[in-house]
Amino acid sequence: MRGGAEHSMGSGGAMARGPLPCYLLLLAQENLEFRLPEIKSLLSLCGGQFSSQQEICINSPFWILNIPSEEMARGLMKRTVCAKSIFELWGHGKSAEELYTSLKNYPMEKMALEFLPFEGKVNLKNPEHIFWILEDYGMDPNNIPEEPLDLYFGRWIADGQRELIESYSVKRRHFIGNTSMDACLSFIMANHGRVKANDVVFDPFVGTGGLLISSARFGAYVCGTDIDYNTVHGLGKASRKNQKWRGPDENIRANLRQYGLEKYYLDALISDASKPIWRKEMLFDAIITDPPYGIREATRRTGSQKEILKATERGTENHISISSNYHLSDIFFDLLNSAAEYLVMGGRLVYWLPVYKPEYTEEIIPRHPCLKLISNCEQMLSSHTSRRLITMEKVKEFEDNDQYSHLLDYQSLLYKGHNAFREKYFSGVTKRIAKEEKDNQK
Ligand SMILES: C[S@@+](CC[C@H](N)C(=O)[O-])C[C@H]1O[C@@H](n2cnc3c(N)ncnc32)[C@H](O)[C@@H]1O
Repeated sequence: MRGGAEHSMGSGGAMARGPLPCYLLLLAQENLEFRLPEIKSLLSLCGGQFSSQQEICINSPFWILNIPSEEMARGLMKRTVCAKSIFELWGHGKSAEELYTSLKNYPMEKMALEFLPFEGKVNLKNPEHIFWILEDYGMDPNNIPEEPLDLYFGRWIADGQRELIESYSVKRRHFIGNTSMDACLSFIMANHGRVKANDVVFDPFVGTGGLLISSARFGAYVCGTDIDYNTVHGLGKASRKNQKWRGPDENIRANLRQYGLEKYYLDALISDASKPIWRKEMLFDAIITDPPYGIREATRRTGSQKEILKATERGTENHISISSNYHLSDIFFDLLNSAAEYLVMGGRLVYWLPVYKPEYTEEIIPRHPCLKLISNCEQMLSSHTSRRLITMEKVKEFEDNDQYSHLLDYQSLLYKGHNAFREKYFSGVTKRIAKEEKDNQK
């Protein structure tokens, strides 16, 4: 990957043209597909854009980026969970000699101190600057070369937010459900959604509110809806192994309180996402959600008026009469429509789309005339199924006739293809179990 790298902003805000400073980004070797959209989204959130004069190997833990200012590099690191650290890059090469030559060419005026060997006082306990030499031994653990393939020397600038993955781990979370989102992915979703302080973020399938926590951690006010009365009220069976029923204070608000984020909680309502409850206005800065896809939780919606009346006549005790199956095609249709309608311009929709891999093509990604596809990252679920984190941005005001235009002809057929996901998932699982049983009998 190659990108232009010119800038017009010099230090102290003076306008000057010249090459952008180089930074070395050290990335964590997990969630590889999610890293580039995260870094791009965060740079744009900081007022910059992704730019690199170097060939970037997308799967490598080392990326050389051109970033206009140290302040922006620090801004990026205040949010990223995909990157570990960032360094102001002073030199790099394929050997120690090349690194040394490169270092000697680093402009003296850019160095925070005298040129190597450093002549100032060395204070190892409380250093003013920390310098790193990083060595890249490639990505094949079974084929590690004798000598590093690349060497980098740089001044440490900041670490990323990897510690959030541990401190917000679902394992120690007060209130969880069967489908509570993993902490790292929740933060990645909030970053893809470019959530920022004072935003209003909405999750229409809120469950235990796992996705609200990451947005609140970044200073956004959060709210959600869910069709399930018990989940919203923290009632019913517990999801933890050694606990039968949910405790008295197991709910979304208490989760936010656990992390000192209660002030960001707006509310969670019991409501069916297929029947929007909002006044017609642009209300949300981001919609971040994990819709049900019928594997670990049912896809359902409230019944029609007729069905509700029938249930009432029968005296069915249900807070909302839940009857019909909510087809995946309808879930995505409704989700995109409500994002188009209720997002502010430039606001983002981030959601998971389940995919049956043998039939996947980019064309099956649901589209909408008001929403531009920003990124699409795959996470494997099984050998034949995966889910894709889809990020879309509102680029056009919603008009009433936008509602169905994306469902014309061909797209409509592609949408319907999502409906069979559950059957395909279980047919695959059944086949695998049958194969495993057969193999065991051999
Ligand atoms: C995958 S879970 C979301 C989990 C959530 N992210 C969390 O951290 O707990 C999907 C949720 O959608 C809810 N749901 C299913 N059908 C719905 C509908 N028609 N309207 C609103 N919520 C619905 C389910 O009750 C479930 O809680």
